[in-house]
Amino acid sequence: MAGGRLLSNVVASQEVHAKWGGVVPELASRAHQEHIVPVVQEALQKAGVAKEDLQAVAFTRGPGLIGALLVGACFARTLAQALQIPLLAVDHVQAHIMAHFIRDGQERPQPSFPFLNLTVSGGHSQLVLVRSPLDMEVIGSTLDDAAGEAFDNGAKVLGLPYPGGPLVDRHARSGDPASFTLPKPAIPGLDLSFSGIKTAFVALVQREELRTPGFRENRRDDLCAALQAAIIDHLVAKLRRAVRLHNISQVGIAGGVAANSGLRHRLQEFGRREGVDVFFPPLAYCTDNAAMIALAGQHLFAAGRFAPLDTVPLPRLHG
Ligand code: KG4
Ligand code: ZN
Repeated sequence: MAGGRLLSNVVASQEVHAKWGGVVPELASRAHQEHIVPVVQEALQKAGVAKEDLQAVAFTRGPGLIGALLVGACFARTLAQALQIPLLAVDHVQAHIMAHFIRDGQERPQPSFPFLNLTVSGGHSQLVLVRSPLDMEVIGSTLDDAAGEAFDNGAKVLGLPYPGGPLVDRHARSGDPASFTLPKPAIPGLDLSFSGIKTAFVALVQREELRTPGFRENRRDDLCAALQAAIIDHLVAKLRRAVRLHNISQVGIAGGVAANSGLRHRLQEFGRREGVDVFFPPLAYCTDNAAMIALAGQHLFAAGRFAPLDTVPLPRLHG
C-alpha cells in the first residue's frame, strides 16, 4: 500500500481446512508458518518494492486464532525491528470495514462518514457506527455464534465441505426458502443471535434424514435457501432497527458473509425501501485479505499510533 493505493494483495488459500471439515487451530498456525515468508516475498515482488523501501509494517493484532496471530505478530515485529520502521497493530474487525476504501485503480462508490456498518464474518457479527477510520462504536453484536458460523455449520450437517458459506449461497439460488420454517431470533435491541437458527436447522436435517434417508441430498437446495433466508431475515431486521434508531442514511456491509449473493440482493432492496445508500466492498475484499489490514495500518501510521515492538496478539474481541 502506498499513499492509500493498493500495490499488491496476496492471499494464501488454506485448503487444509476443507480436508478436516473445519479450522483445526494447530494446522492453521502451521499453514501460516509455511506461507508467511513466500507470501510477503510475492507481495513485495508484485508491488515492485524492495523491503528496504518499506516505511512501516502492519499486522493483525486480533481477534482471531491465537496460533495464527502469533505467526503474523512475530514476523511483523521482527521485520519492523530489522528494518527500523514503525509497527502498526491492526484490529481485524475494524479492518474489515476499511475494505470499502481500498483504492486499487477501479472506480466504485464509497460510503462517507459517518455510516453504519454491518460486519459479518466467520468469527463476528456486529453493527458498528463508523465516524472515521479510527473512531468506530459497536452498537450491537452477536450474543452467541457469528453469521458465518451458522452458514458453515449448516453446510456441514448437509455434508458440504468447509467453508460452507459460499456453497450454501450457490445451492440456495435453486431452492425455495419457504420450503422449511426456521425460528426468528427474538433478541431485544441491536444485538444478534444465530444459535437458535443453527440448532433448529441441525435438528430438522437430522430428524428428516432419519425418517427419509437421502433427505439432506434430495432437498439440499431448499434447505440451503431456507437457512440462508433465516440468517438474512435476522440481519436485515436488526439493520432496519439500527437505521431507524440512529437516523442513518448510509450503510456498509463487510466481512466474509458480505460476499453472499442473497444478502447483497436483499440489502439492495432494503436500501431502496428505507431510502438509504448501501455499499458493498468487491468480493475479494469481503473475505480476509491483507489489503484491508494495510489500509487500516496506513490510518494508524498517519495518526502516529505506532505499536511497541513487544505488542502481543489479542485473540478475543475487545473495546
Ligand atoms: O471474514 P472472513 O474471511 O474470515 C473471518 O474473519 O471469519 O469470513 C469467513 C466466513 C466463513 O464463515 C464463510 O463461510 C463466509 O465468511 N462466507 C460466506 C460467503 N463467502 C464467505 N457466507 C455466505 N455466503 C458467501 N458467499
Ligand atoms: Zn475476517
